[in-house]
Amino acid sequence: MADFTNSFWNWFIIVGTVGGIIAMFWLNRWMTGPKRRADEKAKPTGHVWDENLQELNNPLPRWWLNMFYVTLFFGAGYLVLYPGLGSFAGMLGWSQVDQYNREVAAVDKQVGPMYERYLGEPLVQLAQNREALKTGERLFITYCTGCHGSDARGGPGYPNLRDNDWLWGGEPEQIKASIMQGRNGVMPPWGAALGGAEGVRQTAEYVLSLSGRRADPAAVEAGKAKYQQICVACHGPEGKGNVALGAPNLTDNVWLYGASLKVVEESIDKGRSGRMPAHAEFLGEAKAHLLAAYVYSLSHQATASAKGGP
Ligand code: HEC
Ligand code: HEC
Repeated sequence: MADFTNSFWNWFIIVGTVGGIIAMFWLNRWMTGPKRRADEKAKPTGHVWDENLQELNNPLPRWWLNMFYVTLFFGAGYLVLYPGLGSFAGMLGWSQVDQYNREVAAVDKQVGPMYERYLGEPLVQLAQNREALKTGERLFITYCTGCHGSDARGGPGYPNLRDNDWLWGGEPEQIKASIMQGRNGVMPPWGAALGGAEGVRQTAEYVLSLSGRRADPAAVEAGKAKYQQICVACHGPEGKGNVALGAPNLTDNVWLYGASLKVVEESIDKGRSGRMPAHAEFLGEAKAHLLAAYVYSLSHQATASAKGGP
């Protein structure tokens, strides 16, 4: 509750609010005006409109004033029971965070079993279960499309999850680990180590040649030497990558950041750092399990239909 940077604002609000209520109370009393004798007539205030429409000094009707007293009383009672007066938490101890958590817990209790009943099922088997996949798809659309796209084909920097080409491994348990723990691929910038733009270009030409792309042969030769020196550690001697580090396979012509020479040069020169956030705490294991089965199914539909097929 106490989010104030200093106690001045706490008192600023208390004095303003309590002062406001007292001022309104006083205004009400004042508007009631002095009691008029029953036989006394209302006097004109001297304000006249449209030639003969006069304002008289009649007091406000009693019921009207009483309504104001009711709202003042309600306001004071509210401020005693609920948070509102500076950092005073209110006597009921209510907070919106508490209420939110209670409501979330109630929903979880209701729908939790819907997800948990799948937790014991092996992922490969679950990836054939139509009903489970439908639930998985709904979860994916809610939590994952922002980065991976509604068709799960990703975009520059966000991997395609349909192509059975994996940065961190495509075994069901590896996919689940990607979702639960998150992933952070770190490709350091190599521009300086490669001696600037020319060295970067040569290495990029070599990288392109690894997937059979047309490349300048002289540059490829020079780039290969540099590759063997620096890049093997993560991308491997043949450029096949390393799922333990999230280092992509450079020989399959599947690109995380883009296929053009310019983009490959940029990856090498400036480095890259793709981050997949961890979802274990946020979603819980049961939902992550369903999501892993759904993601696995996206690139294993052939097996799914082969089993049930003719
Ligand atoms: C420390 C390990 C490491 C080293 C050394 C390394 N890389 Fe990488 N590289 C990675 C990782 C991890 C990624 C994926 C980055 C991401 O996920 O954002 C990557 C990504 C790339 C990409 C982008 C691939 C794509 O699909 O878009 C290229 C190109 C690349 N590296 C080339 C190289 C070259 C050339 C060298 C040597 C000069 C090199 N890397 C050295 C770890 C490394
Ligand atoms: C904030 C953006 C973001 C969100 C949200 C996100 N992802 Fe990712 N995800 C990424 C990035 C970026 C990577 C690649 C990390 C890297 O470069 O190594 C990734 C990687 C992955 C991988 C590993 C892919 C591989 O090739 O090994 C899987 C599986 C995955 N995400 C599934 C999901 C699922 C399921 C969800 C929804 C619960 C999700 N992601 C939500 C950004 C996101």
